[in-house]
Amino acid sequence: MKNIPFAILCIVLAACCAILPSCNKPAETTAKKITIGFSQIGSESDWSAANSLSVKGAAEKRGIDLRFADGQQKQENQIKALRSFIDQKVDLIAFSPVVETGWQTVLEEIKKAGIPVILTDRGVDVTDSSLYVTFIGSDFTEEGRRAAKWFVENTKGDLKVFELRGTPGASCAVDRKTGFEAVIADHPRIKILKSQDGNFERGKGKEVMEAFLKTPEGKDFNALYAHNDDMALGAIQAMKEAGLKPGKDIKIVSVDAVKAAFEAMVDGELNCTVECNPQLGPQLFDIVEAVLAAKTLPADATKHKLLKPAILEALGGGAFEKRVMVHEVVYDQSVAKELIGTRKY
Ligand code: AHR
Repeated sequence: MKNIPFAILCIVLAACCAILPSCNKPAETTAKKITIGFSQIGSESDWSAANSLSVKGAAEKRGIDLRFADGQQKQENQIKALRSFIDQKVDLIAFSPVVETGWQTVLEEIKKAGIPVILTDRGVDVTDSSLYVTFIGSDFTEEGRRAAKWFVENTKGDLKVFELRGTPGASCAVDRKTGFEAVIADHPRIKILKSQDGNFERGKGKEVMEAFLKTPEGKDFNALYAHNDDMALGAIQAMKEAGLKPGKDIKIVSVDAVKAAFEAMVDGELNCTVECNPQLGPQLFDIVEAVLAAKTLPADATKHKLLKPAILEALGGGAFEKRVMVHEVVYDQSVAKELIGTRKY
């Protein structure tokens, strides 16, 4: 090598590059950008705003082309967005379904188009679980159980609970109710006096509480279980305007653990918030990258015994964990002051 004149070495290298076309192109132009369609439920709560930021931020960090569609809490908008992602030939579709049912047809269309699907945050009710690769999200039933346990462990005497439910048909509304009821079933001193929908919105939570306070039952309750912080905060406002002392006259537990809930706990107006972590972006895109890496294996890899399962997994039929859980905890007034400065959303 030492004896080969420099000019000859250059000629040999140039000839190699002429044969291998990728040699002439800068690396960035050869790597195809990953395109992901993401259908978000809407922006009904502080939780949703934090979730959207997390997804957008994680995509940007990884240089992913994210097509983000806000469904404005309507299933028909989300279905439209999913179909448009098929037309756009995205590499993968991720979405948070506003309600559990009614997805089978569009998921079959996506499968036919060969596009893998990842569910985030909320689940779907479909007969064929191969219609999606995996579901990353919280255990909503456990959140309901945790809310009830706080009442069991931190109150005495008869508790007449007003329940503010989330969006009708949403998996988190269904499961948070189920988990809560399962725990109070063993504690007859705790009863749900009345249960109403508040759609996960602060304004609706206030409106529903205002109306409830005018009914005879509204004079006879001493606890509120709200399926999210936003509805609890709206209801707290209504209680204060009606001359009640939320957090004292009425014990209140809600779900999410957004910063505004910590502020309400520091002010003594909310008793407890059960965490539902919205920061799913990094975890989502780790899985997106794993799924796409498996999917882009060369076609003849299917002949290889070891690689075949990876391809099947990518298409939703294999061994990707069907359910990816999120770590969460419970916060109450005893830790609110100490932790409020650490809350990011
Ligand atoms: O799906 C998660 C739930 O939806 C959050 O608890 C709520 O705030 C949001 O609207």
